[in-house]
Amino acid sequence: MKYECAMLEVKTKLDVLNAELSHHTNRNPFESIKCRIKKPKSIIEKLERHNLPCTIEAIEQNLNDVAGIRVICSFPDDIYKLVEYLTKQDDITVIESKDYISQPKKNGYRSYHLIVEVPIFLTTEKKPMRVEVQFRTIGMDFWASLEHKLKYKQNIADEENITEELFFCADLISQLDRRMQQIRMRIDEANNQD
Ligand code: GTP
Ligand code: MG
Repeated sequence: MKYECAMLEVKTKLDVLNAELSHHTNRNPFESIKCRIKKPKSIIEKLERHNLPCTIEAIEQNLNDVAGIRVICSFPDDIYKLVEYLTKQDDITVIESKDYISQPKKNGYRSYHLIVEVPIFLTTEKKPMRVEVQFRTIGMDFWASLEHKLKYKQNIADEENITEELFFCADLISQLDRRMQQIRMRIDEANNQD
């Protein structure tokens, strides 16, 4: 329940930013936003994987992704804008910030990951709770979804080649993201001159 509340707090902040920014620019900085609470089975598996006891304390101290939000943006520069405006808010504490866009993972994975802490106000206490927020473009999400599916398929024939091909595709997608952003900027400029 506490994670649900924290997730809602952060989602509302992002919805508010989306509303304000789209009012200024006539377009939405993000296309969609998805929230999820990690399933008990996955929580237990992760605790076991890290040799941690199955307790609430161990979850709160060690797992940062019980509450997760995925924000899918149209363009890479929208991601940086949202990250800046969200992390600047004075009730948000940044626990971790990983820019896998400027520094992609070895396999080609791109995304911006934030772990933030946000206070929730309950009847008798104010409690800081952690939420993981992943920011991706539509292209990055397209790639990550496919890669995720393949990763969990066992015994793929020709796995090495597929991994290479996926890496190549990640690079193509990032070039496309950049080109689409440039097209948007040219349209923005033309509109500003009118
Ligand atoms: P976790 O133990 O999975 O939380 O890893 P971590 O603490 O090193 O965090 P990281 O920020 O690297 O990744 C967290 C989440 O990002 C994962 O649970 C996935 O949802 C996503 N992710 C990270 N790397 C990859 C990847 O290579 N492929 C895909 N499809 N998703 C990834
Ligand atoms: Mg993590």
